[in-house]
Amino acid sequence: QELRSFIRDLPKAELHLHIEGTLEADMIFALAERNKVRLPYADIESLNRAYQFTDLQSFLDLYYAGAAVLQTEQDFHDMTWAYLQRAAADGVVHAEIMFDPQTHTSRGVAIETVFAGLASAMRQGHKELGISSSLIFSFLRHLSEAEAFATLEQALPLRGQYDDLWLSVGLDSSENGNPPEKFQKVFAHCKELGFRRVAHAGEEGPASYVRDALDLLQAERIDHGVRSEEDPILMQRLRQEQIPLTVCPLSNLKLCVVPDLKQHNLKRLLEQGLCVTVNSDDPAYFGGYILDNYVATAQALGLSKEQLVQLAANSMAARF
Ligand code: ADE
Ligand code: ZN
Repeated sequence: QELRSFIRDLPKAELHLHIEGTLEADMIFALAERNKVRLPYADIESLNRAYQFTDLQSFLDLYYAGAAVLQTEQDFHDMTWAYLQRAAADGVVHAEIMFDPQTHTSRGVAIETVFAGLASAMRQGHKELGISSSLIFSFLRHLSEAEAFATLEQALPLRGQYDDLWLSVGLDSSENGNPPEKFQKVFAHCKELGFRRVAHAGEEGPASYVRDALDLLQAERIDHGVRSEEDPILMQRLRQEQIPLTVCPLSNLKLCVVPDLKQHNLKRLLEQGLCVTVNSDDPAYFGGYILDNYVATAQALGLSKEQLVQLAANSMAARF
């Protein structure tokens, strides 16, 4: 409890958070009812019981199915508002929120609806909770680069209306078999347009995907990146250039990237001088928000107070 309040009081930024991954099972049921969507689960408990994953894909299948209850601007607002309240209570002062536009536009939800709902909650969060936030427009890597371009083109007319929030683009979904090079052109275009860039890499995929995310996508932060340790030359570069890694320990545990939190390499990465941060990824599915991630990791790895302060300071320094 003392550890928990110590960490809560550190000013923190959350830099790796999929807003669709904050949909709690009870909200999935409430929105399904509101929107008359049929769910293949009898009740909240049986949905929660289904959250037993063997790898990234087994999670993504449920995560995309859960997101299908989101239909109206109010739905996107309610989801985002619930997250911001939780984040503020955990001592998050700034959140860079990823969303997957293609998950919604492919179901016939207008991109305008998605932006409007997210943005109204984020602006309300700034006013009422004192939490600043921005958006990371994430491309789904299991889809084609042409589809990424098409989604970007759909959204660009809205940029002026959301230029206070939409600062960055990202890359997520099924990593293995969908290497960074597949999205080289769209990321180059986004850079020309002035967007900041992040990419998931080295979660399930090899260290070479981290290197390629830096070289081919001009990524400025790496989401996860825990497999970087397999390449000493890459490790040296990450340390020298202080490229932030947005590590998500409870996610790595739930998706079997590590067998046990005690075997997580976060502490080693930190002790080798990398700019490591702690984040929650998809907290509704992985059993904890950002403070739970800090506390569980601190306990499993025996992090010192200095290391916890460093992790929080890294997150603030790695903001866009
Ligand atoms: N989408 C949501 N969470 C993700 C993760 N951990 N890795 C890749 N894609 C994701
Ligand atoms: Zn992620």
